[in-house]
Amino acid sequence: MVTRVPPEPFRIKMVEPVRVPDSDQRERALEAGHFNMFGLRGADVYIDLLTDSGTGAMSKQQWAAMMMGDEAYAGADSFFNLKKAVKEVLGFDHTIPTHQGRAAENVVFSALVKPGDVIPFNMPFDTTRGHVFNSGAVPAECVIDEAFDRANPHPFKGNIDIQKLDKALADNKGRVPFVMITITNNSGGGQPVSLKNLREASAVAKKHGVPLFLDAARMAENAWFIKNREEECRNMSVAEILKATMDTADAVTVSCKKDPLVNMGGLVACRTEEMYFKIVPKVILYEGFATYGGLAGRDLEALAVGLREMVDEQHLTHRIAQVRYLGELLEEGGVPCIQPIGGHAVFIDAGAFLPHIPQGLYPADVLSVEIYREGAVRGIGLGALAFEDVDEKTGERTFPKLELYRLAINRRTYTNSHMEYVAETIVNVFKRRESIRYGLELVYEPPVKGMKHFLAHLKPRDL
Ligand code: F0G
Repeated sequence: MVTRVPPEPFRIKMVEPVRVPDSDQRERALEAGHFNMFGLRGADVYIDLLTDSGTGAMSKQQWAAMMMGDEAYAGADSFFNLKKAVKEVLGFDHTIPTHQGRAAENVVFSALVKPGDVIPFNMPFDTTRGHVFNSGAVPAECVIDEAFDRANPHPFKGNIDIQKLDKALADNKGRVPFVMITITNNSGGGQPVSLKNLREASAVAKKHGVPLFLDAARMAENAWFIKNREEECRNMSVAEILKATMDTADAVTVSCKKDPLVNMGGLVACRTEEMYFKIVPKVILYEGFATYGGLAGRDLEALAVGLREMVDEQHLTHRIAQVRYLGELLEEGGVPCIQPIGGHAVFIDAGAFLPHIPQGLYPADVLSVEIYREGAVRGIGLGALAFEDVDEKTGERTFPKLELYRLAINRRTYTNSHMEYVAETIVNVFKRRESIRYGLELVYEPPVKGMKHFLAHLKPRDL
């Protein structure tokens, strides 16, 4: 039995027409885009599940708030409205706006990280990992082992392993500027982190005198999972759980293009003035003055409203059920998905879907190509192409444990009929999976570590 998705808690007021390109158009688009989903044009895609970032629909309250945008370079009212919303929803006294999440990472990493440092994570997402390398540091992945077991139904597969974390901190004394936990864990299947785990991680970090940062792009979805899966939080509201989540951390970086429901925006928020003054010069250097951080006043206003809207439980219940609905339709068709289904996306185990394609020939990206070819649906491979490590001297490749294909669901954008179309498309590919007899090889890769999957040119190679 698949989930019954509750009726949408919104009416659709404006539509964006989309069309299904015919198969000739799809073939031309694949060639022109070098078989990389980032190379396709939006107009060549029917259902675009490349990302849930900046692709959601704003509410009428957000659009109305935009009209109140105060465009002062320094000290705009809109900044103070945002600061008030951050204090109210997240509890932090200090807010630094940035133009998006990776910009928040950039100001934090450039202020606090130096070459040779080690940053313990549950798992970093791709751009975050890129920032670690760009600062001359390395990530130490400490997620629990269950995260790598596709069918394991552990309710909090995003949890950090407290022993691994303690060891990483002890082994790298003096070289850890902060611990960072991604909520929900995007690279590991959109899996939540429990409040208990965050509290334990916070205590361990404190014991070692190291601050805890949260990469909190999907913090409201994480809080919803806590409410539904963590016994002691059952009677708390999502808003209360979110506050309690934030209480475990010294600071957050947020891509506001996800849960906070804006099309562009990010922020850093922190507890102490000392940390604020360490970070804020970098925002001026890279983003804009401290009270706008690369955003227009109207963007700050829409974000202030979005932060309050994101904890609406009807919205979250509908959204997470819609994602699960897609996952269940796929599972029903035999498609191997990461269990439990994540908050913002369904992650297909591309390694299990196409077991005859060696990981070095990027099976997750072959799956991207085939699903696009079948139904003009765009998802994204999150496997070896995104996360492999290649030894600079020997060329030896180390592959990630997970070879995933992600369908990220835009917030308040697609209907359940769209989900059914996507599932049907993918089940059709699944039925003909054994006839897919090629892999992909690199023709071009950019010279910056961690950026390969965004810019790679690929070409098919027969098995
Ligand atoms: N952290 C996480 C967990 C993310 O998922 C992302 C972006 C970022 C940071 C960076 O934020 O895009 O605003 O600069 N993830 C997107 C995705 C792009 O498709 O999952 P950004």
